[in-house]
Amino acid sequence: MPAAAVDPQMGVVRTVKELRARVDAWRAAGLSVGLVPTMGALHQGHLSLVERSNSLADRTVASIFVNPAQFAPHEDFGSYPRREETDLELLRRAGCSLVFIPAAVEMYPDGFQTSIAVSQVSQGLCGASRPHFFGGVATVVCKLLNQARPDIAVFGEKDYQQLLVIRRMVKDLDMPIEIVGAPIVRETDGLAMSSRNAYLSQEERIVAGRLNKVIAEMADRLQRGGGVAEAIAFGRAALADAGFSAVDYLDVRGADLLDDPGSGALSKNARVFAAVLLGKTRLIDNWPVEINAR
Ligand code: PAJ
Repeated sequence: MPAAAVDPQMGVVRTVKELRARVDAWRAAGLSVGLVPTMGALHQGHLSLVERSNSLADRTVASIFVNPAQFAPHEDFGSYPRREETDLELLRRAGCSLVFIPAAVEMYPDGFQTSIAVSQVSQGLCGASRPHFFGGVATVVCKLLNQARPDIAVFGEKDYQQLLVIRRMVKDLDMPIEIVGAPIVRETDGLAMSSRNAYLSQEERIVAGRLNKVIAEMADRLQRGGGVAEAIAFGRAALADAGFSAVDYLDVRGADLLDDPGSGALSKNARVFAAVLLGKTRLIDNWPVEINAR
């Protein structure tokens, strides 16, 4: 059993200096460290990352920071759910050892002017409709990795493009950290858990449960040798029928590089990616297409 699961004293720190002191003490004692970056409003998806980190490292640090740099002015930075007390209790129960909750000035003090751009893999999908987004994510995750200096960091496949952007950044910048991807945790109707699901009305919540079924059906058709163009046409019609307000994107991309696989049948592993709107709420999801397993 990893030591983190039996650590009764979860610490909370708000400055980089305190974070470093705690992590340095663990390192000096020969303990390995995992980092789970979050924006809070935690659910079982986030907690599964803490559990994964606990299984791979001796101590787990979670961060809670609603990062202003990854929201555009018209997006939901102001209304993004913030529930520190509940989050701390959930993290304590999940066996987290330390929570880092920096204020915005701790992360972006006066005079801050550096940003990280991961070019190719940030393009398309979420990068097309949220052009500011991956720059903001890469910059804050780079800072968190430098601040905590973990051995591993765990990210969810729910944000699959984000996971690939971070993997690329860590490789390109020679950061000695293993990036671990963890599977999507879903509600009983298959809706991917998300802090933004709290925005949905009762009726929208029912429609939301259709998204995973449509992309799973697309993946199944592709796996059985169907063409990409037909699968996307099917998916768009099914999403409109289900009652989604708009489709931001619905696409099929290579599983490793997010490259365009063309419009015909697939020859290698891919993934179906969707971003849809339900009223004002934007939901994303993705589903694997295992061609090599056929
Ligand atoms: P946030 O949306 O809070 O997500 C934090 C982590 O939880 C991410 O790695 C995300 O992929 C993972 N996650 C969210 N829902 C999940 C689910 N249903 N199943 C599995 N994992 C899930 O992603 C961010 O925050 C931010 O961009 C961040 C990386 C913290 C940088 O600000």
